[in-house]
Amino acid sequence: MKFSTRAAAVDRLQTDCVWLPVLGGSRLSPSGKAIDERCDGAIEAALASGDLPAKAGATLLVRLSGPIGRALLVSLGEADEVPEKAWNEAVRAAFRAGATIAASDVASLLHEVSVAGRDIGWKLRSQVVTGRESAYRFDQFKSKPDRQPIRPARVTLMIERAQAGEASSEVARAVALANGSDLARDLGNLPGNVCTPTYLADTAKKLGSEFGLKVEVLGEKQMQALKMFSLLAVGKGSEQPPKLIVVRYQGASARQAPVALVGKGITFDTGGISLKPAAEMDEMKYDMCGAASVLGTLRAVAEMKLKINLVGVIAAAENMPSGRASKPGDIVTSMSGQTIEILNTDAEGRLVLCDALTYVKRFKPRTVVDIATLTGACIIALGHHHSGLFAREDALAAELLDAGRDSGDTCWRLPLDEPYQEQLKSPFADVANIGGRAAGSVTAACFLSRFADGYDWAHLDIAGTAWRSGANKGASGRPVPLLTRFLVGRSEG
Ligand code: BES
Ligand code: MN
Ligand code: ZN
Repeated sequence: MKFSTRAAAVDRLQTDCVWLPVLGGSRLSPSGKAIDERCDGAIEAALASGDLPAKAGATLLVRLSGPIGRALLVSLGEADEVPEKAWNEAVRAAFRAGATIAASDVASLLHEVSVAGRDIGWKLRSQVVTGRESAYRFDQFKSKPDRQPIRPARVTLMIERAQAGEASSEVARAVALANGSDLARDLGNLPGNVCTPTYLADTAKKLGSEFGLKVEVLGEKQMQALKMFSLLAVGKGSEQPPKLIVVRYQGASARQAPVALVGKGITFDTGGISLKPAAEMDEMKYDMCGAASVLGTLRAVAEMKLKINLVGVIAAAENMPSGRASKPGDIVTSMSGQTIEILNTDAEGRLVLCDALTYVKRFKPRTVVDIATLTGACIIALGHHHSGLFAREDALAAELLDAGRDSGDTCWRLPLDEPYQEQLKSPFADVANIGGRAAGSVTAACFLSRFADGYDWAHLDIAGTAWRSGANKGASGRPVPLLTRFLVGRSEG
């Protein structure tokens, strides 16, 4: 699905289908009225029939004759100032209806309504991202893929001449974001027998050569030399060698401290010796969605050519039981020098991340955000709506909360204060890798906080948001929109 902007008067518009916003089930926007006049009142006549419910997301297709083949009328509810929720529903409905109509070219004027608290750029981005989401397919493993064409093939966002320059760069950015989200979704959806740590490393290298990023992949020997024995302890049960993948994007002066993104890249999480139950274990192929979001965000940022420096670090391993695997009670020394008692081999994400959080110090980052499908407890706490956010500093938390709200990829802050640290006491080592059943997501974050020192740090637990279960199972691409929005903000301020 291709998006473009066009600054032209609607009286010369020629298209298979025009998308028009309708308020209160009957009120057209100015361009809608102009088009209706060209079509001898056919649109007003259809509205007068009362066939379009006023409820946001209702649609009505009107056939026209002449240079505009059809009009898809899209209800945005009653209010002149459309609430964001109604706008989102209407845009989704337009793409749902658009997919069933044999129109390849669409011209949208939906953004002619005002949306509460949102500007034209936001409304354009929202259409691109929603459209691309609706067009996403993952059928590479079907021997007979469903070859229905993706409709509409081309969407032209009609704008006023004065907005032309800004609008086209907004759309280009939204397309870059969608490309990053698609990459994250593809990687998430790939099965564990294909998407191994080595596959993630190869994907990073490919991304590097496409976008001019520096990529370095550390193997077991190099990680041993760095004393990353916590990460290595997770990987050693598997035939697939673990990898530490480092991707660097330089969009600003080399003197400017980078932002670092650290991703959990467990390409399959069996739980290890603390084996998981069989039911739904297939979903643990998604346990690398943190890593996927790092690569997706790097792709988006590089395509946008943002003026920032960004480092992505991915701790990739497969968590398997075997004769060589770590066992409950094993004690390992992390790269930081802290010793860890591995009480549960299924709490492996924190074990790979802690060494990556130590490693990342060498880039002298200003800010580090780690992203991980870290705890089932985060799903219990927040469900599937918000990612869990943990941060020591309120300013960084506020920045990420805002980026989430702006991009529609929201997070919710959970506590990270001293009392919870108690739960990680070990009689034998500096720290235990689990803290009991109570507040499992918080104690996981507390574990990470012990390694995230020397920089401003936040942790996103995406266990509930990175993929959807059930009939429409699949990776969501989250939190690429949140992270990208955060970095756009950093590049501006
Ligand atoms: N990858 C899982 C977390 C997870 C579970 C994400 C289910 C999404 C859905 C993680 O490695 C894990 O197994 N965590 C354990 C931690 C526990 C052993 C302290 C969990 O959540 O049960
Ligand atoms: Mn696990
Ligand atoms: Zn895991």
